[in-house]
Amino acid sequence: MISQAVTSFIYSNFIHMQIQVAGRLTQTEEYYFSKKLREIAELNKSGDPVINLGIGSPDMPPHPSVIAALSEYAAKPNVHGYQSYQGIPALRQAIAHFYERYYEVALNPDNEVLPLIGSKEGIMHICMTYLQEGDEALIPNPGYPTYASAVHLSGATGVPYTLTAENGWLPDLDALENQDLSKVKLMWVNYPHMPTGASANPDFFERLVAFAKRNGILLCHDNPYSFILNDTPRSLLAVPGAKEVALELNSLSKSGNMAGWRVGMLLGDKDRLSEVIRFKSNMDSGSFLPLQMAAVKALELGPDWYEDLNKVYRKRREKVYELLDLLQCAYDKSQVGLFIWASIPDTFSDGYALSDEVLKARIFITPGGIFGSEGNKYVRVSLCTNEAVLDQAITRISHAK
Ligand SMILES: Cc1ncc(COP(=O)(O)O)c(C=O)c1O
Repeated sequence: MISQAVTSFIYSNFIHMQIQVAGRLTQTEEYYFSKKLREIAELNKSGDPVINLGIGSPDMPPHPSVIAALSEYAAKPNVHGYQSYQGIPALRQAIAHFYERYYEVALNPDNEVLPLIGSKEGIMHICMTYLQEGDEALIPNPGYPTYASAVHLSGATGVPYTLTAENGWLPDLDALENQDLSKVKLMWVNYPHMPTGASANPDFFERLVAFAKRNGILLCHDNPYSFILNDTPRSLLAVPGAKEVALELNSLSKSGNMAGWRVGMLLGDKDRLSEVIRFKSNMDSGSFLPLQMAAVKALELGPDWYEDLNKVYRKRREKVYELLDLLQCAYDKSQVGLFIWASIPDTFSDGYALSDEVLKARIFITPGGIFGSEGNKYVRVSLCTNEAVLDQAITRISHAK
C-alpha cells in the first residue's frame, strides 16, 4: 500500500511537471523592483526599516482639486459601469489642451489621443501591435527595462543602442545608420532620459525624426519626466512632420503625483492609434469614470503646480548630492527628472556592489546595471523621499564609514 503522503507527493510533482510557462517567458524574469521590494520587506521584519531611495514613485499627494473630483464623481450612482475603450471625450479634450498649452503640439482629441492605464501598459500595447518574430527594435542601453522585456515578449529581437556620458546620453545616429537596419521596425526613445537624467534639444529631435523617415522606423517616444526639474518640457511631436513616424507616451504618474492611479496617454497619428486600439481593446477596458474626471483636473493644473513640486525636489536634490558625495560618487548637476544618476568610485566593481554595501546601512539605492550594461558603473538615487528621511540616510552612511 502506498501511503497517502507518498501519493500526494507523486501527484503534486506530476501536476508540477505538467505546467510549464510559455517559451517567451524563459528569458523574462520577474521585474527587478518586484523582487527587490519583497527582499526589502523581508529585511524590514527585523531592525530599522530600510530607507528606500530606489523607486520613482512620488510620495506627495495629487492636487486637492484632483482628489475632490474623484470623490465627487465616485459618489454618483451612474458612474460605475464600463467606459469607452477610447477614454471619455472630456479626458481626450483635456489631454489635447494640455499638449497645446505645454508642448505647443496640436492634437485632434477625437482620434489622435488615447488614454491608457499608465504608460507602462502602452509600451506593451505598442510592441504587440507592431512587432513579431523576425523584427528588430532599437532599445536604449541604459534605459527603462520594460522596453527590452516588452520587445522580447512580442517575439521580436531587441537591439540595444549605446548611450554614453561622452555623447550626452544621446544615440549616435550616424553610427546607427552604418548598422544593418533592414529588420528594425521600431525604436524606443525617452527624453528626459531615465535613468541618466539627460535632456534632448529640438535639434536632436529633428535629426531623430529625419533618421526615422530615412530608415522607415516607427519612433516611440516615452515622455513621463518632462515636468520634473525641467524648465523646458518638450514633445517629439513638436517636430514638423513627426506624426508621420512617431508615437508619444505620456503619464500623470510623475508630474501629477499619481503613480498609483494609472493614468497614461498615447498621442500620434489617427491611423497609428486605431492600430493600437485593435490590440488594446482586446486587453482591457476604459478606466473608472471618476478617475478619468479627476485626471482632467490634473491636466488643467497651471505652471504653479509644477513650480511648487520642483521647489521640493530641488531641496531634496541637494540632500541627495550630499549623500552621493559621502559615497564618493560623481554626478552631473544638469540632470533633470526624478532621480540622480551617479558614477561609482573605482573601489567598487560595479553599482550592484555599491548598492549591496549601502544596504548594509539599511538604505536601498538602485544599481545602474539593471538598466543595461552601460549602467554597470552607476547607481540611481530617487528624489521621492522627504528631506527628514534623506537626513537620516546621510546620518546612517556617515556612521557606517
Ligand atoms: C521611462 C519610464 N517610462 C514609463 C514609466 C511608467 O510610467 P507609468 O506609471 O505611466 O506606467 C516609468 C516609470 O518608472 C519610466 O521610468
